[in-house]
Amino acid sequence: MSKKTTGFSHKLIETNVGLLIILSILVISFAGLVQIVPLFFQHSTTVPTAGVQPYEPLNLIGRDVYIREGCVGCHSQQIRMLSSEVLRYGPYSLAGESTYDYPFLWGSKRTGPDLARVGQRYSDDWHRVHLRNPRDVVKESNMPAYPWLQRNRIDQENVQDRMRALRKVGVPYTDEQIQKAPEQLKGKTEEDALVAYLQGLGVAGREAAAKAVSEGAL
Ligand code: HEC
Repeated sequence: MSKKTTGFSHKLIETNVGLLIILSILVISFAGLVQIVPLFFQHSTTVPTAGVQPYEPLNLIGRDVYIREGCVGCHSQQIRMLSSEVLRYGPYSLAGESTYDYPFLWGSKRTGPDLARVGQRYSDDWHRVHLRNPRDVVKESNMPAYPWLQRNRIDQENVQDRMRALRKVGVPYTDEQIQKAPEQLKGKTEEDALVAYLQGLGVAGREAAAKAVSEGAL
């Protein structure tokens, strides 16, 4: 039986490394774009989940402390759509809950538990004791201690620059909010800020997420 020729030889690609690389890059780029580009336009990813607001100034500074201290290296902030995750951590995360996160802190490493809905799970005091020395509340914890946060004062003025920068990328801070921000940080420490940030995680969007879980929708 004679083989049908199509004018396109797979052998040519498989025996020519340069061509194989170029065509592979083309295929992967195209497939990537098909997956990624719609996310810039879909409502579920661009419109904030009901209840979700831009971070309060104190929480915003707390978020920066979280980034600086590398918490994301051990903690994810993304509850996946698996029943085991929902049972352990709460309603799975919706994309619209991260609309004001620049950069997002979903992470992928879970040396410690996911923190997407840790807000209001413990008291402020629990967090303070835990941050100063995790072993005081969880004996076998391997989380590092962060005792300096309670002593570090917050630089009040630079919060306005941060808010203006976020406004440039689409976070709707008003002039009034920016103007009042330094006042709200008066006398606060980095620990106050980090605790405020942690206590807000996953709270505002919880109701909408719970509804999505019960309806089985994305
Ligand atoms: C080396 C990895 C590691 C790093 C870095 C780390 N953690 Fe943890 N974290 C853990 C582990 C393990 C646990 C579970 C044991 C415990 O509660 O201490 C935990 C628990 C927690 C909990 C309690 C979560 C729950 O649902 O019980 C919070 C809140 C937390 N970490 C916040 C932070 C913050 C904020 C930072 C950064 C300042 C941080 N962690 C850095 C490993 C880490």
